[in-house]
Amino acid sequence: MNQDQLKQLVGRAALDYVTPGQIVGVGTGSTVDCFIDALAASGIAIAGAVSSSERSTQRLQKHGIRVLDATEVTGLTVYIDGADEIDGNGYMVKGGGAALTREKIVADLADKFVCIADESKLVQTLGKFPLPVEVIPMAAAQLARRFAALGGTATLRAGVITDNSCHILDVTGLSITDPLAFEAEVTLWPGVVTVGVFARNKAQVCLLGGADGVRTLSF
Ligand code: A5P
Repeated sequence: MNQDQLKQLVGRAALDYVTPGQIVGVGTGSTVDCFIDALAASGIAIAGAVSSSERSTQRLQKHGIRVLDATEVTGLTVYIDGADEIDGNGYMVKGGGAALTREKIVADLADKFVCIADESKLVQTLGKFPLPVEVIPMAAAQLARRFAALGGTATLRAGVITDNSCHILDVTGLSITDPLAFEAEVTLWPGVVTVGVFARNKAQVCLLGGADGVRTLSF
């Protein structure tokens, strides 16, 4: 199976976590696109979705799925999203699609984060994938210096303005051995909107697609 087929496989597998009448939290990315398409094809009549990006909103609406604003709900049973990296504790790096802030907001509304990913995303230690950090533009240079002090190299993602009118720094050279502490520290730096480490809002379940099918990891 190639990577696209694995994404379709885990996108379909995530339907097991969706029940009729529910409002579902929906992430962003190519794997989530497969989930949205599978959801539409399944005929499961959900009450609606809370979306983490304009991209996912458009896809949901194209399929006739109602999209609610995050402010209209008090909580969600489940949030389904991909990841750029996930470790053996369910901690993730996210934001490759620049949607990390809204992803963290919607994930925070949910009781359960179900991560859908192909097995290339499973890592021992987070940090090989360049860490996305959404930043207020005027803080970018100072934040790059702060990451340099941690041994990282921050590069402004060219031509990208987020759904929140901010910029993305991609930081290479980090080895994130304590995701909870790292997330807590970087979140406090002035000008950081959201750091792409999802530790407090980690996954409880990962549906990992590989040659042998879907493996369910629970954390
Ligand atoms: C979007 O901002 C990201 O957090 C995505 O969830 C992540 O990049 C995974 O995307 P793919 O499913 O396209 O690999």
